[in-house]
Amino acid sequence: MSVDYLLKNGLVIVEGAPTRKAVALHLGKIEGIYSPGSEPPAQQVIDCEDLYILPGAIDIHVHLRDLNNSDKEDFETGTRAAAAGGVTTVVDMPNSNPPTLDRDSLAEKVDSAKEKRFVNVGFYSGIQRNTSDFDAQIVPDILGFKVYPHSPIIKDTSYNQKRIRACLKLSEEHDIPLLLHPETGGKRSAPKTLDAFLMQHTCESEEDSIQQFLAAQSEIGGRLHICHVSCASSVRTIEKHRAEDLLTAEVAPHHLFLAGGDFTHPDGASKMLPPLRSPYDNKALQKALHQCVIDCVASDHAPHTEQEKRATFLEASSGIPGLETTVPLMLTEVLEGRLSWVEYLRCCCSAPAHILKLGSKGVLAKGYDADICIVKKEESVICGAFFNSKAKVTPFEGRRVLATPVMTLVGGDLVYNYGQFLIGPGVAGRVPVRKT
Ligand code: NCD
Ligand code: ZN
Ligand code: ZN
Ligand code: ZN
Repeated sequence: MSVDYLLKNGLVIVEGAPTRKAVALHLGKIEGIYSPGSEPPAQQVIDCEDLYILPGAIDIHVHLRDLNNSDKEDFETGTRAAAAGGVTTVVDMPNSNPPTLDRDSLAEKVDSAKEKRFVNVGFYSGIQRNTSDFDAQIVPDILGFKVYPHSPIIKDTSYNQKRIRACLKLSEEHDIPLLLHPETGGKRSAPKTLDAFLMQHTCESEEDSIQQFLAAQSEIGGRLHICHVSCASSVRTIEKHRAEDLLTAEVAPHHLFLAGGDFTHPDGASKMLPPLRSPYDNKALQKALHQCVIDCVASDHAPHTEQEKRATFLEASSGIPGLETTVPLMLTEVLEGRLSWVEYLRCCCSAPAHILKLGSKGVLAKGYDADICIVKKEESVICGAFFNSKAKVTPFEGRRVLATPVMTLVGGDLVYNYGQFLIGPGVAGRVPVRKT
């Protein structure tokens, strides 16, 4: 038998170390991993000499915008950015315009993403004001619920214990995680100084919010996933309540590697929520990732227009692009010896798949989906102007990285090859991604 693709002479992580191997792909799946000399015949052979063959990253926190926010990003530019960044599955947040709250608003996104996709796209839904209005028919097409207590998708929804319990009840009933943007607070006036902005988005408010949801969860059940943990104090709270599958957490690269004091804040390039914290928090988050207190890395890719980001810090929109920087930044940690290969594979590939129960993804092994990222070890600097995303303003501008994704395969199709998109849009990958 001849397989569809043979990725030959690459470096595959075996027992924690890069090892020369070939990866065979057939009918969209990984057919097997072979030692030199024992490879099967193939329709197409890709020479991967000196390149790392890794599972594609799974980014469970992205805002692809589209629909009425296509000026910021659309499914085409967002998923091109993913493919170029070595990310083969993205999961889209519901705080879009219109917001994703029911069957119609979800269908509109699914249709658009189907047409424009370059990688696999999954979706989250928000939760309606009255949780009994929830339409269970959308459950197979969503991978979780997302809530923003500080800035609810449905204006004036107060996240008191009653509301929090109702949300967790939906998670419990439908066996999908409730993702939390951990921050308390309701209506507040626009801050007039940087200090006032930071006082509205404190570590205390992050921790309080996590505590409120944990308190409700202890009675109601449900699965809770804490988004973009940014503070040492939150790490301590999560560590105390760790329970496999019931409480999971993610960290964004900017909260691992950047501190607020690194920026003089002339404009909004480094503005996001939660805000950048201190070097002490950076260290605590890095340690938490090593110790599995934080399960995974997610970019919180939150594109805005150039104008929205170049405004003064106080006026600028919160959120930065991340799809094209996460894999290079995390692999730089590996190549410089601060993160092990096994840790990388866990926090960028297998743990995110595990959290969302994507049973056929996140691992480079026989039988798994052929979602693959091929990486070259080379030194370069991050330059937002070259991003495929519409959002080109990044606080990582000029940062040195040691790894570049050069080829990306999605469902066994070579989508991205050294800067070129070979097929698509609307061909490779699945929309919506479903639990398996
Ligand atoms: C996100 C956005 O722009 O949608 N912004 C951000 O700063 N992270 C919202 C969010 O994830 O909280
Ligand atoms: Zn958020
Ligand atoms: Zn470690
Ligand atoms: Zn977000």
